[in-house]
Amino acid sequence: MESIWSKTCPIRERPPLTGDFRTEVAVIGAGMAGVLIAAALQEAGARVIVLEADRIASGQTRNTTAKITSQHGAIYRRLTQLLGKDRARQYAMANEAALAEYRRIIAENGIACDFEEQCAYVYGSDAGTLRAEAECAAALGLPASFTKQVDLPFPAAGAVRFAHQAQFHPLKFLKAISEPLTIYEHTSVQTVKEHRLVTNRGTVTAEKIVFACHYPFVNFPGLYFARMHQERSYVLALENAPLMDGMWIFTDGERNPYSFRTWNGLLLLGGGGHRCGENRAGERYNELRRRAKEWYPQSREAAHWSAQDGMTADSVPYIGQYAPSRPDWYVATGFQKWGMTASMVAAMLLRDSICGRKNPCADVFAPCRFNKKTISGVLKESGQAVKGLTRRLFQIPAETAKQLSPGQGGVVFLHGKKLGVYKDTDGSLYPVDIRCPHLGCQLEWNPDEKSWDCPCHGSRFDRFGRLISGPAQTALHKESQK
Ligand code: FES
Repeated sequence: MESIWSKTCPIRERPPLTGDFRTEVAVIGAGMAGVLIAAALQEAGARVIVLEADRIASGQTRNTTAKITSQHGAIYRRLTQLLGKDRARQYAMANEAALAEYRRIIAENGIACDFEEQCAYVYGSDAGTLRAEAECAAALGLPASFTKQVDLPFPAAGAVRFAHQAQFHPLKFLKAISEPLTIYEHTSVQTVKEHRLVTNRGTVTAEKIVFACHYPFVNFPGLYFARMHQERSYVLALENAPLMDGMWIFTDGERNPYSFRTWNGLLLLGGGGHRCGENRAGERYNELRRRAKEWYPQSREAAHWSAQDGMTADSVPYIGQYAPSRPDWYVATGFQKWGMTASMVAAMLLRDSICGRKNPCADVFAPCRFNKKTISGVLKESGQAVKGLTRRLFQIPAETAKQLSPGQGGVVFLHGKKLGVYKDTDGSLYPVDIRCPHLGCQLEWNPDEKSWDCPCHGSRFDRFGRLISGPAQTALHKESQK
């Protein structure tokens, strides 16, 4: 189903690339990150083009909850312990600067995008922990305080409140920002070698290349697949529910892990977060619906949708040089489900880096960072990938194609092979090779979205095997139906 953002803001179509092209900077991906990076570089005087495999904002940007905040859960104590006070402060200041930059751009360009200032709250059941988080965030220079007052449909001990944060309509903003940019849609980058990009439509030679395509698809160098996975989460838009002040999110381990914000008379209720590919039988939306009925019995569902995002080994996005051996490649990825703010951080950092300016917040986001404390996250990712490969090689399917319910899919033995099979409502079978084309992990059926999802790095395919999102770059191999 479409999000309320895509339903209410169509964006004009752009032509695909034709022939061979030369430019200073090529940005791959026309979501919020790619568009903001291109706009910042163009404003700084660079010649930029954007290459988009599908349509502008067709990935995660249209499915965000569109909060602009430096409060990304209760992270500041953890970041301080893991990375030290200086780096935690860099993270905090970069995100506050991103908020200020949104304000500047919207005011200077008179963009009508429902931008409104709101407080951000992270709630929890342990007041002591929340107080300590508020004190730590305030010491880093953030507008943080502890409050016992919570505006939630269930009890909580309190919340960390960040003042002067914001929310908006992401596509109304993106539509205005993308207007003066050169963007080629339906132009999928297939390979990148040094300064040359080969697409399905033509080639581009660029002095600098920015990967802003959600999950970088060049595996070597960079090794992003070894240090990032993806997590999905789900949203209901509710009519006739009480509207709340502020934007609300939960602390880790909370019994009621939900998020809330309002837009245009609707309450957006989010939750059901899980690692991509670890699916339960059609439970994510239903769980949210049960909660909506319990808390707001008079409400009606106006829309539902879901999104996913890259999660890094140390909870900080990778923004900067792609790899030491590729000094002219840049990356912005692993936004931890805070993609609106992180996209603007990426625009500011990469603009400065490409224009040869030193940004005081760059180090904490540098993709090549590793230390003894953060390496354990990388090892965990590698372990998960091994699990995905092992499952493909050794797991015996528990059901047969006959046992699949109409409208559902599963991993079964068919024609002597282990395959992914979707059974349509008329009983037709759509078998696909269950190996993920990225690095070969076994895909899992997602009953909520009727898609094939990869538990290793989060590639997704629709029920017929067509590519929805990478890092895989190709569709699934279709197997014979006979
Ligand atoms: Fe990497 Fe599937 S996304 S193996």
